[in-house]
Amino acid sequence: MFALLHRWIWQDKQRCARKLLDFAETEADGGRDLVRAAELTGDPTLRRLFTVHAMDEGRHAELFRARGADLLKSLERPSSSRLSMNWVSPGERGLDDLRVHDESDASLLAFLHLSEKTAAGHFAAYVAALEKDAATRAVFNQILKDESYHMNYTLAQLTRVAPQRHKALLWKARLSRLWKAYLRVMSAIAGVMGAIMLTLQYFILLPPFALLAKRAAAKEPPGWREIPPQQERSLKSQF
Ligand SMILES: [Fe+2]
Ligand SMILES: [Fe+2]
Repeated sequence: MFALLHRWIWQDKQRCARKLLDFAETEADGGRDLVRAAELTGDPTLRRLFTVHAMDEGRHAELFRARGADLLKSLERPSSSRLSMNWVSPGERGLDDLRVHDESDASLLAFLHLSEKTAAGHFAAYVAALEKDAATRAVFNQILKDESYHMNYTLAQLTRVAPQRHKALLWKARLSRLWKAYLRVMSAIAGVMGAIMLTLQYFILLPPFALLAKRAAAKEPPGWREIPPQQERSLKSQF
């Protein structure tokens, strides 16, 4: 069922282009977080690996951006679809707004491992869904190889850095990701409810005020009015 849904989502060229441009943003954002992680770590192996990883994410951003732009240029006429459906088929989340400077090397690696694993799973599904678009499929295939490498090296390094605690850290990272997903869903629901409430307020509360203003305006005589001269005008008044 998900395969069919992904095929439907990716078949619209304009949506596909928009999604690739969104993915490019998150890849670039992830790359910047990894540069920061490389600056902060005291472990020389991790510094080198994080730097290479950051360069990979930067390259992914370029690949997605270039393919998204090509797709937009090739559009003969814009489609009516406005939905990106990123909540069903998201891109790589990277460090997902994690505060890099608040995390230890081990917790960062646990979070990265799960994020890369999820991204690799999603990108594999998109490769299968894009059977009619060889160029976009090739981009995902190329990126998928890197994501699999990121997934494996982060787990290997986590086991090296925290041999006793790596399973507990993975569970902690899983719960943290679950909490972030819950917050994302709740803020989306709050956004929809907010839009409904404001629309209702606009149509229910505003009309009576508009009516009263109209009636008050109708009572006002048109044009200039002569104001009777006042003999004793207060010196404190402006008029
Ligand atoms: Fe990536
Ligand atoms: Fe990655």
